[in-house]
Amino acid sequence: MSANSKAVRSSQNGPHPRLLEIVARHVAKPFERPIAEHNRAAFVETQAYVETDRRPLCLDSFCGIGESTAILAARYPQYFFLGIDQSAARLSKHGPLRSDNYQLVRADVTDFWRLAAAAGWRLEQHWLLYPNPWPKAAHLLRRVHGSPVFPQLVALGGRLECRTNWPLYLHELQVALGYLGQHAVREAFTVDSPLTAFEAKYTQSGHQLWRLTASLGGGNNPEDWE
Ligand SMILES: C[S@@+](CC[C@H](N)C(=O)[O-])C[C@H]1O[C@@H](n2cnc3c(N)ncnc32)[C@H](O)[C@@H]1O
Repeated sequence: MSANSKAVRSSQNGPHPRLLEIVARHVAKPFERPIAEHNRAAFVETQAYVETDRRPLCLDSFCGIGESTAILAARYPQYFFLGIDQSAARLSKHGPLRSDNYQLVRADVTDFWRLAAAAGWRLEQHWLLYPNPWPKAAHLLRRVHGSPVFPQLVALGGRLECRTNWPLYLHELQVALGYLGQHAVREAFTVDSPLTAFEAKYTQSGHQLWRLTASLGGGNNPEDWE
C-alpha cells in the first residue's frame, strides 16, 4: 500500500532561538490555568483503578485511536497502560476502551500530566507517538517541550519514547531535556509493524521515521531498553 503524506515543512532550520528561554520560564513559574472539570473527573476515575492495580504504570499520551496502547499493553503484560487523547471521536474508532491491562482515557494532557505529577505518579514508560508537530515557529509553545507542562512531563519520569517524522522536533526535545539534566538519544529507525495509524501512513509515504529515548530522572541507559 502507498500513501502520499507530505513531509513536514517549517521555516525553522534549527532549534527555536527562544527554546531554552521558554523552558526556563516554565520551570520557574508553574502553569496556573485552572484544571478543567472534565479532565479532573477523568483523572479521578482513572486514579481509582490505577492505584488499586499493582502493576507499574505506563502512559501512551496523544494515543489517537488507541491502537498503540493496545499493542503496547499486549507486548508488556506486566505493566498497566493508560492511553490518553483529547478526542472522543478518535478514541471511539479503534476497539475496546479497556482490557485487563489498558484503559483509554479522554483528557487533555495539559491538565492530566499536572494532576498525575501532583499526585506523585511515577511512570515505568511514557510514549509520545507522533504528537502534532506544530511546525510554524510561532507555535513553539504547542510542542511538548515548549508546553507550560513540560516540567510535569519530566517529573512523571520513566522511559520516554517520542516518535515523529520531523527530526527537528526531536532535536528541540533533546535540547530541552538536556537543559533539565536529562540525557536523551535520537536516531532514525524503520518499522515492519507500525504501532500507530500515523506511523503506518508516514512509512507508506516513504518518510524517514525518528525516535528519541530517555530515562527520565536518570538511571538506566535508554539504549538498554526493549
Ligand atoms: C498526530 S495525532 C497522533 C495520534 C497517534 N499517536 C498516532 O500516531 O496515530 C495527535 C493526537 O494528539 C491528540 N492531542 C493533541 N493535543 C492533545 C492534548 N493536549 N491532550 C490530549 N490529546 C491531544 C489529538 O487528538 C490526536 O489524536
